[in-house]
Amino acid sequence: MARYLVTGGAGFIGSHLATALLDRGHQVRVVDNLVTGQLGNVPDGAEFVAGDLTDPDIAVEAAADCEVVLHQAAIPSVPQSIVEPRPSHQANIDGTFNILIAARDAGVRRVVYAGSSSAYGDTPVLPKVEDMPADPRSPYALQKHVGESYCALFTRLYGLETVSIRYFNVFGPRQHPSSPYSGVLSLFIRAALSGTGPVIHGDGEQTRDFTFVDNVVDGVLRAIDAPGAAGEVINVACGARISLNRAWAALEEIVGPLRPPTYGPVRPGDVRDSLADIGKAERLLGYRPLVSFEAGLRRTVEWARATD
Ligand code: UD1
Repeated sequence: MARYLVTGGAGFIGSHLATALLDRGHQVRVVDNLVTGQLGNVPDGAEFVAGDLTDPDIAVEAAADCEVVLHQAAIPSVPQSIVEPRPSHQANIDGTFNILIAARDAGVRRVVYAGSSSAYGDTPVLPKVEDMPADPRSPYALQKHVGESYCALFTRLYGLETVSIRYFNVFGPRQHPSSPYSGVLSLFIRAALSGTGPVIHGDGEQTRDFTFVDNVVDGVLRAIDAPGAAGEVINVACGARISLNRAWAALEEIVGPLRPPTYGPVRPGDVRDSLADIGKAERLLGYRPLVSFEAGLRRTVEWARATD
């Protein structure tokens, strides 16, 4: 039976992927340093390797005897990468390099890499299409773009199949509002359920292609086997953009009357608008979003209520 490695499998997106693979009857190994991930997220039945991919030996141990690697481990934050660029660089670039080398040497068939929409920066045109030039506005965005470039290079030079999936503001259960760097919807939901108003950086009219985690899991699982995807960068999102003000209003419809937001200065490195063209994912992966923003938000609120 094929073994799948999920790096960052104790984290938000990685743990959903690990669960989905186990549900399909695969053997799953998780490697995680438990800095932002939690041991409780690692699903029963998955083998667990505790360690940091910035250590090349951990990468070798994790990739041994695996057919597929889903590389999700990262420090996933734009503002954190601006405040603390070095750990962000080490996790997102050195960690990626180490797992690519280890995957190549272990004879892994395919690596699916968690790319980011942040690589596009502020494109003058929407939606954002994969062949637009990258314009990173933060260390995080640059690091994620370098990771994609490394993946494509490993495909070209060493024949290691890689697919970079560009995520667009993923949200859902297990995304914790534990730090000010957490995803905005997790912070909004916590504010809504605790009866406070959120802090909005800017006028709240910036938009994001918020993507419920089940859509990303579906896109990544498709990328594991899709012919013609090796060496490619592919957006996975909903193809719709929602402003922060609208997201707060959508929460009000679910939760009931809410406090108004407090508006503050625009966050450094912030992108104004984000909207994906998902045509390439449709063509290469047969992908279509399964869960709408509103349905995903409802499910995330239910989860947050249940875990309070
Ligand atoms: C970026 C990437 C996304 C990536 C994520 C990793 C873009 C367009 N998106 O997300 O693909 O997965 O990094 O973390 O670059 N905000 C508030 N109040 C808050 C927190 C955030 O107003 O309390 C605002 C931010 O200023 C931003 C928006 O909400 O305008 C979204 O922020 P966040 O959830 O941190 O994600 P991005 O930086 O957009």
